[in-house]
Amino acid sequence: MISYGRHKIDSKDIKNVIKALKSDYLTSGPRVKEFENKLNKKFGGKFCTAVSNGTSALYLLGKALNWKKNDLIATTPISFIATSNCIVNNNASPVFIDIEKKTYTIDLDKLENKLKKKKFKAVIAVDYAGHPCDWEGLRFLSNKYNFTLINDACHSMGAKYKSDQKYAIKYADFVTQSFHPVKTFTTGEGGSVISKDKLIDDKIKLMRNHSMVRDKKFDPWIYKIFSTGMNYRITDLQCALGITQLDKIDKFVSERRNIAKMYLSNLAECENFVLPTELNKIKHSYHLFPLQIMFKKIRFNKKKIFEIFSKIGVRLQVHYIPIHLQPFYKKNFNINRKELLNSEEFYKRVISLPIFPGLKKNHLSKIIKQLKLIN
Ligand SMILES: Cc1ncc(COP(=O)(O)O)c(C=O)c1O
Repeated sequence: MISYGRHKIDSKDIKNVIKALKSDYLTSGPRVKEFENKLNKKFGGKFCTAVSNGTSALYLLGKALNWKKNDLIATTPISFIATSNCIVNNNASPVFIDIEKKTYTIDLDKLENKLKKKKFKAVIAVDYAGHPCDWEGLRFLSNKYNFTLINDACHSMGAKYKSDQKYAIKYADFVTQSFHPVKTFTTGEGGSVISKDKLIDDKIKLMRNHSMVRDKKFDPWIYKIFSTGMNYRITDLQCALGITQLDKIDKFVSERRNIAKMYLSNLAECENFVLPTELNKIKHSYHLFPLQIMFKKIRFNKKKIFEIFSKIGVRLQVHYIPIHLQPFYKKNFNINRKELLNSEEFYKRVISLPIFPGLKKNHLSKIIKQLKLIN
């Protein structure tokens, strides 16, 4: 089955992982630091901590920022559940802000309306599908209303904003990433927090490994625990893969963009589809290709379209069920669905088309042909 995303591994990746396997370190060795340095260099961070996945990156960041009960964190409902779970798991409360219709990212006017009424500790914005948010606007709001600005950049590694690939940490205070196999490059499982803040970075590094404090002043076997932590470590094997994968990120993004171009040019005439846009100052990384279908105007519903594609060997996906519609969030948080209509409408219409480096031309043609038939 062709999925919406997958990794692309070559002999360089395999060689580097084998080299790590034959080395003295399988985990927490020199490749972790090397990978972190490389991430900093590529994405413009001052500090970087690589961790077990993108979810733990978000969670540890919230914990390091000392989120607690009664803290409000604004975020988008059109994201993977991790963006909100990290808030709840730190005992704070999410406030969902609707997306805007063009880029499917957080709507700044709606955000500011809320900021005028409520104090937010932080805002987690998501560069949905690989299209950067309005980061200049978000920075302005962060300075005006004094909240911590976080870019959950799990979709947008390799994207550009105003020609700058290092935009994420330029505008946000903290950036989180995921290196899951469907993302723009992979470590199998993995994630990172990139920042300009040594204090927070030190805290995250400590919590990544049970908050065990070692010091040259202590006897050699001594470690001390002043607060709790867990095992959120990334391994040397994963970092060995990440090091060679990161070298190819621009090639991967360019392959994704070529596939997007094919969808965009071939489906432009389909009147019942809404295709993703790319604003002028943006270079989209196309982690996803979200296609909106006007189901009211065609013969099929979403389930039927999933069946049709499954029959030709394509497993479609939907990104995402709005988080505020999940039973847990509905039950536990005060949600006004009338304020989130764009997100709900988007969810009704959207499907994710396959887009990944290595997607074969004949498969792409088959998908496009089928899409034209259902339009
Ligand atoms: C926007 C977003 N945030 C966070 C995550 C969590 O990353 P991971 O799967 O590495 O835990 C994902 C992964 O799908 C994501 O898409």
